[in-house]
Amino acid sequence: SSSKLLIKGGTVVNAHHQQIADVYIEDGLIVAVNPTITVGDEVRVIDATGKFVMPGGIDPHTHLEFEFMNTVTKDDFFSGQAAALAGGTTMHIDFAIPIDGSLTAGFEAYEKKAQKSCMDYGFHMAITKWDETVAREMELMVEKGINSFKFFMAYKGALMIGDELLLQGLKKCKSLGALAMVHAENGDAIDEGQKKMIELGITGPEGHALSRPPVLEGEATARAIRLADFVNTPLYVVHVMSIDAMEEIAKARTSGQRVIGEPIVSGLALDGSWLWHPDFVTAAKYLMSPPIRKQGHDKALQAALATGVLQLVGTDHCVFNSTQKSLGIDDFRKIPNGVNGIEERMHLVWDIMVESGQISVTDYVRLTSTECARIFNIYPRKGAILPGSDADIIILNPNSSFEVTAKSHHSRVDTNVFEGWRGKGKIEVTISRGRVVWENNELKVAPGTGRYIEMSPFSYLFDGLDKKDASYLNSLQAPVKRAKSTA
Ligand code: URP
Ligand code: ZN
Ligand code: ZN
Ligand code: ZN
Repeated sequence: SSSKLLIKGGTVVNAHHQQIADVYIEDGLIVAVNPTITVGDEVRVIDATGKFVMPGGIDPHTHLEFEFMNTVTKDDFFSGQAAALAGGTTMHIDFAIPIDGSLTAGFEAYEKKAQKSCMDYGFHMAITKWDETVAREMELMVEKGINSFKFFMAYKGALMIGDELLLQGLKKCKSLGALAMVHAENGDAIDEGQKKMIELGITGPEGHALSRPPVLEGEATARAIRLADFVNTPLYVVHVMSIDAMEEIAKARTSGQRVIGEPIVSGLALDGSWLWHPDFVTAAKYLMSPPIRKQGHDKALQAALATGVLQLVGTDHCVFNSTQKSLGIDDFRKIPNGVNGIEERMHLVWDIMVESGQISVTDYVRLTSTECARIFNIYPRKGAILPGSDADIIILNPNSSFEVTAKSHHSRVDTNVFEGWRGKGKIEVTISRGRVVWENNELKVAPGTGRYIEMSPFSYLFDGLDKKDASYLNSLQAPVKRAKSTA
């Protein structure tokens, strides 16, 4: 039947092993991976000789159909996912946002948005306020297949939460076995900085970068890391954009703390001096938070990724057209924040990290796919080419080349921050649960074919946690016994 497929003669790459082998797929699942597999005439065969056969990309950080800053992102769950598939990504985890603080209402809204999906997806849930209802709803969300919660330390007056909520949220995550995630920037200092820029008459996109320098990302990253250490729960830092934040993560990991750092493709690949471009729309298209930093941060983040200081690559795909970016023509505070990347991530990481010689092909698979599956507890169903895994597969030709341009990309946004990028290594085929959805530069996708992937919480050995907590308590001095005052 058409649901049977054989990929022949390619180099099959997993995060920990590679071999020349055939991959046999039936009904959306990988059935066999062997040096030689023979099949009948009814089975379609794809020749992958001289090419890499790898797990499809998993993007841990996207915002599709996101209502943000008085507008809504151009890509919805269909167009964003179609773009993803054309670029070799076969699953993403999107940030569901509560409605008026209600997680249940937020989840239901995102369930609805995702009905037009054409590839598999999961959700993180943002926490934007705190009370007993939210705490109870977090339990409900875990039952619905969410095992990660995001706290925004920036966007004052909108999504931002303070330290008190962060502390309560971290404790709740720990008790649920859920992973806490942070957008780490000091929102109070940014708010003051923004007002200052406007006072100084700096109303253009460069004011965005000037009002939220790397030190404010480093500060919030350090604060979140220390609070997570205090609570004794793991922490995932999203969109690590600066050396300042990266070094805090490096320090914490060296000391044995469970901290995960996620750089995004725009932070690895781009130079933030675009924000100083004299043409408003050109400058504004690069505007996101935290800002894309000046030259030097990109290379340092690449090195951190290559050496394991940072663990996986996301995109933060959150796209707005030129007309939407122009909402902030007179005031950078009104420019919707966000850049593209869902379609470009796999090619750019290949070009920047593998073609440049910084990492191996197995490492590429680890940090574009396997590590994400492992962190969010869906490995080896996702992130591997193994018997029993979902048949989410890409075929990359290392001798063919790719080029990025808004003229032919599949996202609905009218610009591309990677415009004109060319490189070697072209994803020629994308297979989504056994269906060939991208081939010969053509997409074959249909709304409603993507599935919601439930992610279950993590088990801690509570004995182990108690031991760590106990060692903290034991380190405290015994209370001092004082004689009653005689005064
Ligand atoms: O500018 C950004 N990053 N927009 C998306 C929302 C977020 O902070 O992740
Ligand atoms: Zn069949
Ligand atoms: Zn963020
Ligand atoms: Zn984001």
